[in-house]
Amino acid sequence: MFRDPDFTPFQPAERPSYATAVRNYLQNWPPASYREGFSTLPGVWKSSAPTVFLTDPELIQEVLVDRAEHFTRARISARAFSALMDPASLFLAEGADWRWQRRAAAPAFRHETLLALVPIFAECAEAQAREWRSAAGGEAVDVHEAMTRTTLAVICQAVLGDPAALDREAFLASLTAAFGGFSWQALIAAFGLPRWTPHPGYFEMRAAVARLNAEAAKVIAARRAAGSTRRDVLGLLLSARDPETGRVMTDRELASNLFTFIAAGHETAAIGLAWTLWLLAKDQATQERVREEVVRIAGARDIGPEDVDALVFTRQVVQESLRLFPPAPTVTRQAKEDTRIGPHPISRKSSVFVAIWSLHRNERLWDEPAAFDPDRFAPEKAKARHRFAYLPFGGGPRVCIGMSFAMLEITTILATLARDFRFTTVPGFRPEVAPNITLRPKGGLPLRVERISAGGRDAAPRDQAGATTIH
Ligand code: HEM
Repeated sequence: MFRDPDFTPFQPAERPSYATAVRNYLQNWPPASYREGFSTLPGVWKSSAPTVFLTDPELIQEVLVDRAEHFTRARISARAFSALMDPASLFLAEGADWRWQRRAAAPAFRHETLLALVPIFAECAEAQAREWRSAAGGEAVDVHEAMTRTTLAVICQAVLGDPAALDREAFLASLTAAFGGFSWQALIAAFGLPRWTPHPGYFEMRAAVARLNAEAAKVIAARRAAGSTRRDVLGLLLSARDPETGRVMTDRELASNLFTFIAAGHETAAIGLAWTLWLLAKDQATQERVREEVVRIAGARDIGPEDVDALVFTRQVVQESLRLFPPAPTVTRQAKEDTRIGPHPISRKSSVFVAIWSLHRNERLWDEPAAFDPDRFAPEKAKARHRFAYLPFGGGPRVCIGMSFAMLEITTILATLARDFRFTTVPGFRPEVAPNITLRPKGGLPLRVERISAGGRDAAPRDQAGATTIH
């Protein structure tokens, strides 16, 4: 168990405010959400319904699974998301409109299909490792930025089937501008103001969304022109047909879905990796344990599909990191009718937050919630815990479709990098969270990255592409 005051990056605000809602909305969450299973926050107007925070696994299971059909995504959050994507696309669609799109994409996320992607994950990690090896070494690098580039490279190869499919730098700049307006959009929706209400970053956001859609449309046009029949996510979306209505996706829905997979697919994984590297930089003993495991399982060779399952402790480190710093800190729902959740009466006007951030730090569910302890996820301990006490990927029918993809990807990339580099913190640096749609570290996460040659990997012969050759 490793304790550090930085693992509690902020305290709940004494009085929730609109300024906090835009800067760090997590700070507005009720302090009771860290101690109890059900808490509320008054709505923006005296007459508005309160926002409900669920941090009790039983209540969460009721909403996400047992009575999932009685709830939709919360209207405020859906409206804020609709500034970024088409309301008819997979992430926002409901009911039958959602179901056929989800079924269409599902084959790309089957276990055997995903295992075949492990070499891509390892290759993209190795490309980052090459860059760090060729640098002088020991200087601070922003690991959030580095992991963002790495996971975007993964998505281009694994989801779009072409490393050069996107202008990646331009895409990332547009994504930051588009996400930048999200908290404002949510606040404006909460006040019931029109969609076009200007806010700081409004015009940049609109222009960025237009650029992202245009970029997605370009990728789709290129794939169509190539006449490829690949069965990756893009191929599946292009050939999808609703079995009930025969409907195919409009170009706008296709572009929106593709944007969702690119954005959801790399942004969250990059954030997960960055916080994991930072936690390991704090806790050197755990970092060493990861390195030892990787060397024991894979020696000096690239991590392959056969290794990932065996990297048990490395995976536990990832799980514990996603607990302390969940890249998607909340999932929202709204009841279709006035109802109850457990014993609590709920208005159909209330947003219901499955409050992942405070669920993962709830005192009733976790011993020393702010400490970093990957052994919490040792198989027997994990089994003893309620399934809905830990939800980095959400749960129920709308659980993250990319969950296994992300776990394989993060584990492979972490194993590759932790074997070859030692990560240490930059003295005096204290990270802040900048929660938006995701839990980005504010201003990045600088770490010192020092090359080491664990398991003799650096000494192994390499072919021209830089891949390690095994004899
Ligand atoms: C650490 C990495 C990731 C985290 C923490 C994460 C988290 C989540 C969460 C919490 C949801 C549920 C949202 C809700 O119920 O409202 C979700 C949905 C989704 N995620 Fe992920 N995700 C990750 C990686 C990925 C990857 C790699 C992909 C694709 C390649 C992906 C694609 C999606 C999509 C398309 C949805 C919407 C699913 C639906 O509504 O049916 N995610 N994700």
